[in-house]
Amino acid sequence: MKAVILAGGEATRLRPLTCNTPKIMVPVLNRPFLEHVIGYLKQHGIGEVILAVGGVPAQVESYFGEGSELGVHIAYSTEDSPLGTAGAVKNAEALLDDSFLVFNGDIFTDLDLTAMMRQHRQSKVMATLALTPVDDPTVYGVVETDSRGMVTRFVEKPSPDKVTTNMINAGIYILQPDILHHIPPDAFCMFERDVFPTLLESGTTIFSYPAHGYWIDIGTPEKYLRLQHDLLRNPRERDVEFEGEGYVHASARIEGPVVIGKGCSIGRGCTIQGPAVLGAGCRIEEDALIEGAVLWQDCRIRKETRLKNCLVASRCDIGDASEVLDGCILGDDVLIGNNNKLCKGIRIWPGKAIEPGAISF
Ligand code: GDD
Ligand code: MG
Repeated sequence: MKAVILAGGEATRLRPLTCNTPKIMVPVLNRPFLEHVIGYLKQHGIGEVILAVGGVPAQVESYFGEGSELGVHIAYSTEDSPLGTAGAVKNAEALLDDSFLVFNGDIFTDLDLTAMMRQHRQSKVMATLALTPVDDPTVYGVVETDSRGMVTRFVEKPSPDKVTTNMINAGIYILQPDILHHIPPDAFCMFERDVFPTLLESGTTIFSYPAHGYWIDIGTPEKYLRLQHDLLRNPRERDVEFEGEGYVHASARIEGPVVIGKGCSIGRGCTIQGPAVLGAGCRIEEDALIEGAVLWQDCRIRKETRLKNCLVASRCDIGDASEVLDGCILGDDVLIGNNNKLCKGIRIWPGKAIEPGAISF
């Protein structure tokens, strides 16, 4: 089965991380998010991927190419202007002949795709939608079903008073090629608001595949950080993992789960407290503390600085005795002068420089 991965859209909610980096390229445990998705699809026997994007970002092209290094084949399907989730699939029609999978490109899950594919084949319906329970359905598409699991209603982003179930559209569909006849060519069209509701109105059967395992949409910084904490805490052999050579001073204390990219240096008296991720080439200077944070590549964290539960993109430089705390997000190349205290979700745009002592509680 082929998979269409939907990866257009602006990723505004993930800014400033996505100012220079497409959502599918944001690193998760130091590997682009898309690599995790492709690995998951491969585990379920899917080796043909169609990436539906606006244009092909240079970073995607140079990292993934045609997919041979990952043992899959990647085709790119591009849009001159955003066509929406269904329009993007229609746009790739020439590449689709048999039943196919559609996968929202910001989902990380352990849902049993193999079982879902089996159910789809046996039921002979035009569409099977994966559902997952969430705490707050108002930011997703709510899907109501009957006692046999047939979809009865689709309500995208319902207001709180319209929420009738906590089962939502997990952003994973298995579809028959016939569905393409219900999508107009070269026009903006959404599965969630247009195609599925219209099919239901005309009496077409849409089946559900309720899943109860791990599922997360990394569309917000908070969930992007949570995914990495969850993966790090997931029981496995890795405790403190070094991805390559580096330097750790004998007095530094590293407590897992932690992933440390190649070429990092960790100075005297530092504490790295997991769950945490250091991208390649990070330099952590004396007596710094890093706890619960995710750093991208080549960051410099200077003396006595404390980073807690924050996200720091590539090449940031954070001055002595500073603090970057809960939910703060720094874009690429941010310079923070000495003695700054950033807390409560402050976001700093790429390339900005903050004078010493300019921000305090
Ligand atoms: N190619 C292409 N073109 N892809 C698009 C376009 C487009 O015009 N618009 C959105 N996408 C991609 C996004 O990159 C993302 O991977 C996916 O389609 C879903 O878009 P989001 O913007 O992330 O939507 P959402 O998270 O608010 O809601 C969707 O996902 C939820 C599950 O996470 C809906 O499908 C909801 O019903 C669903 O519950
Ligand atoms: Mg999303």
